Amino acid sequence: MPVGVRVLETTAEGFELDFVELPWGSEFYRETGRMMPADALETLRTFDSIYFGAVGSPEIPDHVTLWGLLLPIRQHFDQYVNLRPVKLFPGVRGPLAGKGPEHIDMVCVRENTEGEYSGVGGRAHQALPHEVALQVDVFTRSGVERIARYSFELARRRRGRLASVTKSNASPYSYVLWDEVVAEVARGYPDVEVERILVDAAAAAFVTQPERFDVVVASNLFADILTDIGAVIQGSMGLAASANLNPDGGYPGMFEPVHGSAPDIAGKGVANPIGAVWAGALMLEDLGEQAAADRVMGAIAAVLSAGETLTPDLGGSSTTERVAEALLEAVHEPAVRL
Ligand code: IPM
Ligand code: MN
Repeated sequence: MPVGVRVLETTAEGFELDFVELPWGSEFYRETGRMMPADALETLRTFDSIYFGAVGSPEIPDHVTLWGLLLPIRQHFDQYVNLRPVKLFPGVRGPLAGKGPEHIDMVCVRENTEGEYSGVGGRAHQALPHEVALQVDVFTRSGVERIARYSFELARRRRGRLASVTKSNASPYSYVLWDEVVAEVARGYPDVEVERILVDAAAAAFVTQPERFDVVVASNLFADILTDIGAVIQGSMGLAASANLNPDGGYPGMFEPVHGSAPDIAGKGVANPIGAVWAGALMLEDLGEQAAADRVMGAIAAVLSAGETLTPDLGGSSTTERVAEALLEAVHEPAVRL
C-alpha cells in the first residue's frame, strides 16, 4: 500500500490527493477486540474513496477478520459491483502455453453484495451429533438486474460480448432467477452478444480458451473463484486489482488488490506492489482523474514490458522497493488506457 500511495501521489497533477491512514485490521483486533471501531462505517462515509490493503492473519479466524472489516464495508456502502480486470500485459509470461496478450483481456463483474455472501444463515444443535448449519444464498431480482445492466453497459463499451456464469442446472431457484433476469435485460442490448455458461465449464474455459471472454458477469462466490483463475492467467496473483463500486453514486468506492495478506511472504519485502498500484489506478479513474489513471497504467505496462524489475512471483528477483522505484521512474512513460 505505501508503494501505491507514492505512485498515486506522483501521478497526481492538477489535483490533490489527501490520504488519511486508518490502521484497522488484525493488529487493531488484538489491541481492541474489534477489526475496526464501532463508528468505522460513519468515518469511512466522509471520504471520497477507500484504498484498501489486505486483511487476514493466521492467528485470527478468517470469518472474524472478513466479517469484521472487508465484507461490512462492501455491503454497507452497497458496492454491488466488484470490477476485476484480467489482462495479460506484454512482457509477462503467463502460465498458459500459446496464450498471449491478444488472448487474455477481459473484465469480470462480480456481484458484490448478495448471493452466496449475504451472510444469512445460522447453526442449531451446536456441538451435538445432529448439529446443523444453514448458509443461505440470497438472490433478488433487483440485485441481479442492476449487476446485469452494469455488465451489458460495460460490454457495449468494450468488444460487445458478455458471458453470464451460473450453475442453474444444479441450483434451480437462485441461478434460474439469475438467467431469467439476464435474458430480460439482454433484450435492451441487442448489440451485445450474450453467452450463458455454467461455472464449471467457465473455469475450464478460462484456462483453455480465455480469448472467448470479454465481459464476464457472475455471482459473488463464482466470480470470487473465477477471478483467482483470472489473476494467475494474467501472470500472478500479485498483479490482480479490483474496484468495489456503487455506480449509482452517493457512496465511496473501495479499491483493493485481489490478493490477501500473504502471511508466507509478509515482511520480507518481496510482495508484488503492482496489484495495489493497479487498484489505485482504478480509484483515480472512479474519482474522475482519467489522465492520472492512464499514467499509472502506463508505468505498470512499462515496468512489465521491460521485464527487468520484477518480484519473485513474476520470475524476477527484485524487491518491492526496487519495483516501486521502477514504477516511479516510469510514470513519465506514455500513458495507457485499458
Ligand atoms: C476477495 C477475497 C475475499 C472475498 C475474502 C478475503 C473474503 O477472496 O476479495 O476475492 O472472498 O471476497
Ligand atoms: Mn477472492
